[in-house]
Amino acid sequence: MIEDCRLIEFPQNGDERGHLVVVEGNQDIPFDIKRVFYIYGSDDSVIRGRHANYNTQFVLINVAGTSKVKVDDGRNQKIFNLDRPHIGIYLPKLVWKDMYDFSKDSVLLCLASEHYDANEYIRDYEEYLKIVRNQINE
Ligand code: TYD
Repeated sequence: MIEDCRLIEFPQNGDERGHLVVVEGNQDIPFDIKRVFYIYGSDDSVIRGRHANYNTQFVLINVAGTSKVKVDDGRNQKIFNLDRPHIGIYLPKLVWKDMYDFSKDSVLLCLASEHYDANEYIRDYEEYLKIVRNQINE
């Protein structure tokens, strides 16, 4: 699963007026976008996320500032830097994620494949480990 977490570089349609980055569902990213939210006002003392999702895939883009994303599939961990506004991280379903080390100006745009459903969030890490280990053994 962790092998499926990857950075996606979007084209910058730049000219003398500035840049314009386009993210089209099912074209630039591997799902239809059903939900958009963004996170700002966090700083380097905060860890957000700390959950996995049964069904939702995400792409996270630091459209301003920087942050880090630590992904964990119950076996391996990997850290990605989000430090440019045309770079996103793709997160498949069932991966545990922490977002942290936010710069003061960080605006983290999150594109999601599903509408919000609190019941599909796994917020307990021990429970998450049980779920992914059961899947591996199936
Ligand atoms: P939370 O999942 O804790 O944020 P993060 O993943 O960044 O740590 O969400 C914070 C609050 O916002 C929580 O009360 C749930 C609510 N929320 C929604 O209502 N809809 C959403 O799409 C999201 C992502 C969160």
